[in-house]
Amino acid sequence: MAILKVARLGHPVLRQVAEPVDPRSIRSPATQRLIDDMIETMREYDGAGLAATQVHTLQQIAVIEVLANPRYPDAPPVPLMVLVNPVITPLTDATEEGWEGCLSVPDMRGMVPRYTAVRLQCLDREGQVVDLVAKDFFARVTQHETDHLNGIVYLDRMRNLSTLAHVAEWNKHWLGIREQAD
Ligand code: NI
Repeated sequence: MAILKVARLGHPVLRQVAEPVDPRSIRSPATQRLIDDMIETMREYDGAGLAATQVHTLQQIAVIEVLANPRYPDAPPVPLMVLVNPVITPLTDATEEGWEGCLSVPDMRGMVPRYTAVRLQCLDREGQVVDLVAKDFFARVTQHETDHLNGIVYLDRMRNLSTLAHVAEWNKHWLGIREQAD
């Protein structure tokens, strides 16, 4: 396994749309190694998720995991999930503002509106169909990662940039101000 280099904001790869993965190739050694490396990279940098576009690979693959994450101390846990060819369908018009960060936008936080409940359809790393309802923080992370696969970063979703904060200032001035789902 290997820790992969994460593209930062400004790298054109973050604005490209990832290609769907051929389901027959999910179990190939190359795809399995990419998934393992993405999981290791996400954990190394305490990300709540990581999309393949962030590691310079234009395939529709994302990984998600929230386990007592120091970058999201109050987030409810989300078990490790591998999302291949994810499709998100909002199940409500309701959105909620919540804090997000991104390994491609280092040391920043911003308040982002997201649907509070979505249907997530994808394949897992064995190629099995996943079809579930994600709510609240889980829904937020799936929307953030699926956006990456479509060339969208969380800054694009902010209603305005007035809450955009360096994490040191965010810890001092914003951390107690919470309107988020979790
Ligand atoms: Ni991100």
